[in-house]
Amino acid sequence: MEIIIQPTAEAATAIAARLMGKLIREKPAAVLGLATGSTPESLYGHLVGQKLDWSRITTFNLDEYVGISPQHPQSYHSFMWEKLFRHVNIAIKNVNIPDGLANNIPASCETYEKKIAAAGGIDIQLLGIGTNGHIGFNEQTSSLASRTRIKTLTPQTRKDNARFFGSEEAVPHHVITMGIGTILEARQCLLLAFGKKKARAIAEAVEGPISSMSPASALQQHPRVTLCIDEEAASELKLSEYYRWVYDNKPGWQKV
Ligand code: GLP
Repeated sequence: MEIIIQPTAEAATAIAARLMGKLIREKPAAVLGLATGSTPESLYGHLVGQKLDWSRITTFNLDEYVGISPQHPQSYHSFMWEKLFRHVNIAIKNVNIPDGLANNIPASCETYEKKIAAAGGIDIQLLGIGTNGHIGFNEQTSSLASRTRIKTLTPQTRKDNARFFGSEEAVPHHVITMGIGTILEARQCLLLAFGKKKARAIAEAVEGPISSMSPASALQQHPRVTLCIDEEAASELKLSEYYRWVYDNKPGWQKV
């Protein structure tokens, strides 16, 4: 894993935006795995500002709530259109987000997996992390080999996401999420995490044992993972000085 620690969330976001922007410029028909939540919001703003050509880009989002319509203000469909898609020249047919209203959820999940494969796989998967270490909505004890499927949110995640819905009761219990196995097949993963409340989850993911109690720890088995995190999210890492030195002394050809 490459751990990039920056003084602020804004500085970490700027690096992530450069990395994604570079990929889009170098591979105009890239397949992007996208994430929602408060963490990547500013990254999408940066990407919009870069005036990139999205006409041949394909996207797959990590997850969606079950039982709410795409028009619901808190659906991940709404989030993505609001924060990114309506500001760029992406083709609607190239946007893929799990269908929270599907009649046959297992069949729709299978179709989603097939679409990812048919697109040639995901070039870069953007990720946030839950306070309990979840990626996508793969809650603790999710199979590390899991595929796109329905999941039940933990009370902790429903509490964490209540801020978007106004109350905890309003947060759906069920979601559709790409599996950890699905995420690990992306050719590159880019995880962002900011703030003290993510510090424990980051330390467990990076330096803890690989365990389904820390779903993000599965990323230790991926050959190409970059973390862009702020000081606070890095505050429980034991080897943070080492990670800083590595980043500050990268050979020129490795720099973005
Ligand atoms: C949400 C999403 C995740 C996200 C995480 C953290 O519930 N399903 O993809 O990474 O929880 O959210 P935030 O960035 O708002 O802290």
